[in-house]
Amino acid sequence: MQIHDKHFKPFITAQQIQQRIAELGEQLTRDYANKNPMFIVVLNGAMIFASDLLRTITVPCTLQTMSAKSYGAGTQSSGNVTVGSNIPDVAGRHVILVEDIVDTGLTLQRVSELLQQHNPASVTIAALLSKPEMHKTKLHLPYICFDIPPAFVVGYGLDYAEHGRNLPDIYVLDEEHTQ
Ligand code: PRP
Repeated sequence: MQIHDKHFKPFITAQQIQQRIAELGEQLTRDYANKNPMFIVVLNGAMIFASDLLRTITVPCTLQTMSAKSYGAGTQSSGNVTVGSNIPDVAGRHVILVEDIVDTGLTLQRVSELLQQHNPASVTIAALLSKPEMHKTKLHLPYICFDIPPAFVVGYGLDYAEHGRNLPDIYVLDEEHTQ
């Protein structure tokens, strides 16, 4: 499979993704019963994951979005995180940040720190993917679908130069066929 100049090979199937999301949804539903959690989707990448995850949650909850940008156009996390100025009213709320991927963790650290200034009852993270070997922060990550090696991945919301987000499966960079 090719996007722009790079080749990718299958990595995690749509079926595996949906199965893990169902398990994570059950876990969140159990842990957040009676807490009226606020899910905050960190745009853009987490859109697809969030729309599937939210439909597995069976307790009352609310949904908001925030925008954050760190990658730029390439395949590496830039470390410079830009957060949009629209911050949901989180005072007294149990917040679950929804992300597609935790790479260095700098984006979620920045977003969490910002939200903490607005007195939420709690803030946690639910992410589809995490690259433990790339983390530069000590985030507590209790709700991760898949820990993966430090390779570049696309699909299911994740992009390469804005393409590939619509793919139902996740693909990994094929080093053999990419210069
Ligand atoms: C990606 C991803 C996370 C962040 C992870 O977003 O969606 O927000 O990078 O990287 P980090 O852990 O090293 O901070 P990106 O900036 O590519 O924006 P996008 O969600 O619009 O694709």
